[in-house]
Amino acid sequence: MELGHRWRFLSRYLRNPHAVGAIAPSSRALAEAVSEPYRNSNGPANVLEVGAGTGAITRYLGTILRKGDTLDICEINHDFADLLERDVLSNANFAPLVTQGRAKLLRLPVQEIPSDNRYDFVISGLPLTAFELRDVQDVFEVIRQCLKPGGVFSYFEYLGMRRTSRTFAIGKRRARIRAVSAYLTENLRQHRFTTKTVFLNFPPASTHHLRFD
Ligand SMILES: C[S@@+](CC[C@H](N)C(=O)[O-])C[C@H]1O[C@@H](n2cnc3c(N)ncnc32)[C@H](O)[C@@H]1O
Repeated sequence: MELGHRWRFLSRYLRNPHAVGAIAPSSRALAEAVSEPYRNSNGPANVLEVGAGTGAITRYLGTILRKGDTLDICEINHDFADLLERDVLSNANFAPLVTQGRAKLLRLPVQEIPSDNRYDFVISGLPLTAFELRDVQDVFEVIRQCLKPGGVFSYFEYLGMRRTSRTFAIGKRRARIRAVSAYLTENLRQHRFTTKTVFLNFPPASTHHLRFD
């Protein structure tokens, strides 16, 4: 990954830590782990990536997209969206897909994606543990609605982050993280079919894979 992308990522984090939620883009190992159910599936598949940032996972998806697959890439931040368009969607893997209408950028919050059951896989880089509970609930609802029956929602969270925040946060922040953590834990309890830990990432992370039906 280019140094410029890392710097862009860090500077956006410093400006808006709650929306960006990480100080560095995901590693290749994390991109592989969070994309595993899609990679192991038999195509064709419609894939949605949410919270693409500087494209660490997007770039990896571009290398495994099969004939007939489609990829929608959702990113709320205009600077990141510009960068994705300029540096990722114009590269050799993506340019033909964009021309064919099989890869497209959605410059909007995930909460505004129309919910009409059209994705087989949703792969998320969203900083869910930095969100308010209401936003996490809205995101889960939209994703549940836009997955086809049997579709898979994959996301990651940094290892120990929720426990550390629950322990050390104070006041409103503590109440927020406790509520978000309880919601995520309950969803994992009900819907998760597998979790994998990735140590080759900064910070190390767990990838979770869920089915809602
Ligand atoms: C932790 S970064 C992940 C970036 C990249 N996927 C990676 O793994 O390196 C989270 C990204 O989610 C984006 N984001 C935050 N809230 C969002 C929302 N409501 N809808 C879409 N994207 C959002 C941020 O702008 C940021 O680019």
